[in-house]
Amino acid sequence: MSKSKKKASKEWEPNIVTFCCNWCSYAGADLAGVSRFQYPPNIRIIRVMCSGRVDPTFLLKALKDGADGVLLSGCHIGDCHYISGNEYTDERFKKLHKIIIKQLGIDEKRVRLEWVSASEGKRWSEVVTEFTNQIKKLGPFKKSN
Ligand code: FES
Repeated sequence: MSKSKKKASKEWEPNIVTFCCNWCSYAGADLAGVSRFQYPPNIRIIRVMCSGRVDPTFLLKALKDGADGVLLSGCHIGDCHYISGNEYTDERFKKLHKIIIKQLGIDEKRVRLEWVSASEGKRWSEVVTEFTNQIKKLGPFKKSN
């Protein structure tokens, strides 16, 4: 094996847990795949019926259990299939950032909320690429926190 191949195989790659609502973001991720928009393979998608189903403690547990970053994604405000589920998500996420993450000393850039619709495959690939690059810059979660 050449030196460059050895080095490349040892390069750290982040693990990113992604919660997607079934109706918009999961469909957007699916559209990205069908449309062949490229994005890094670092994400593991957990499909939930609505972003409002995701308790903020799920995000912290993902980090505790080995994720380097967590992405939560749902329908745009006003488009939630359960009327106001994403409004609760938005509120909870802001509280999570303000209170829990700052108190626990977790870099707030490791946890992100994004609205992606079913027709935004391109946007999905851009969000995932940008977030993955951000987590790569931050480095592994366990070492930095
Ligand atoms: Fe998508 Fe509620 S159904 S955020």
